[in-house]
Amino acid sequence: MSRLLKDKNTNRRAFLLAGSAAAAVAAPSLKAIAEAAEWDAEPRGTVGRFHERLPNLLVESEQDFYSGFRDWHTLEIIATSQRRALEILKENGIAPDEKIPMEDVIALMENDPIMGMSVLTWENTQQAIWDTIQRVYHENADLYFDEMEAAEKMGPGSIELHPEMHIPQYASYEIHLQPGGYVGDPFAGYIYVHGENAVFFNGNHQDNAQRSLARRVPAPPDGKVNRVLEQGCSSGQFTLALKDKWPEAEVWGTDVGAPMIRYAHQKSVDLGMETHYMQELSEESRFPDEHFDVITNNLLYHELPEKIGIGVIEESFRTLRPGGIFFPIDQYTENAPNMTAFGRFWGWRDYRWNEEVWRFEYENLDMEGEMRKAGFEVVRGPVVRRGNRGLYSEDGRPLGNVMGIKPA
Ligand SMILES: C[S@@+](CC[C@H](N)C(=O)[O-])C[C@H]1O[C@@H](n2cnc3c(N)ncnc32)[C@H](O)[C@@H]1O
Repeated sequence: MSRLLKDKNTNRRAFLLAGSAAAAVAAPSLKAIAEAAEWDAEPRGTVGRFHERLPNLLVESEQDFYSGFRDWHTLEIIATSQRRALEILKENGIAPDEKIPMEDVIALMENDPIMGMSVLTWENTQQAIWDTIQRVYHENADLYFDEMEAAEKMGPGSIELHPEMHIPQYASYEIHLQPGGYVGDPFAGYIYVHGENAVFFNGNHQDNAQRSLARRVPAPPDGKVNRVLEQGCSSGQFTLALKDKWPEAEVWGTDVGAPMIRYAHQKSVDLGMETHYMQELSEESRFPDEHFDVITNNLLYHELPEKIGIGVIEESFRTLRPGGIFFPIDQYTENAPNMTAFGRFWGWRDYRWNEEVWRFEYENLDMEGEMRKAGFEVVRGPVVRRGNRGLYSEDGRPLGNVMGIKPA
């Protein structure tokens, strides 16, 4: 058993004792507390199966406040701005479902004070969430470097970093305002996993979202699943869920960001799960031809330029064995969805103020057409995300996620 795999209750008690004794003298660093507790970078234990608690109550309560505000914003302020959008359309003699050009949507809505307030409070909250989390990891940098370095020497599983690798500009943006993005902050994995939880109304402690998706990823028609790849694996939540689903398979997660897979690997070691991680570009992988039975990804595509997205399809075709499955999952694996004027304005906000720089390129990507061009037989697989208009047929039926089968 690794030293990361210790009884959390024992650690927690030791931490509290060490903490209260030390507090009488001077405020100890988190590292000192962790060392006194025989070293564990989760001195406050975990929430649910997968989620490390934030290292102190102050930051946890700040985080709860901001993400609570954000939940309220989603339910109340966005609803108010949706109503305001309908009023704006009416004031301008436009029917609610009329298709108007994007430039007109922006011109009509961008300078409206209610829309402005909605956008500003959303983005400020987003920044506050990231800044709060980033601060605490940097304040305790030694501890988290130690944790990742220790895990790199341990199994189960493996990690392959490529510090010599050229990181393309398109992958270096601070997507969704994450400070340093996925490649520019050494603690990006830790930062991402807590920020991402806020997106799920602070309720993804069990990696519920990724586990629910993993249940829907289909096996190839012949049922053989020996090797599985998640491209753009980030903090490894979906990779681990895929390993849960196919425990006998060799499961890989790859990502351009070293900090992302360093976090993913230490978490896998901590959980005693044998998963493998490699730093690489999904469009230029190091894997041999016909290597995988299943290749999937989640929320990768909307963060890629269109040309790179096509490259990922082609690379997936190359590295899948005949009969293998390519199952890309995103907000809508479709052409530009049939959104309302407000939906399109909110998409513009995401692009313009939330640093989702590739959002519109993704909307333009003809996923099905490009998969066919690469050689895939394209079919509809299981339904993975509901509630997005792009995934519904004209008569309102949910459409299955697009899926490629490499012809045998
Ligand atoms: C939104 S996150 C993915 C979330 C994750 N799949 C999950 O289910 O929890 C997108 C990830 O894609 C990675 N990425 C972006 N471009 C990439 C590329 N060309 N090759 C590999 N990874 C890439 C980013 O570093 C980031 O970690």
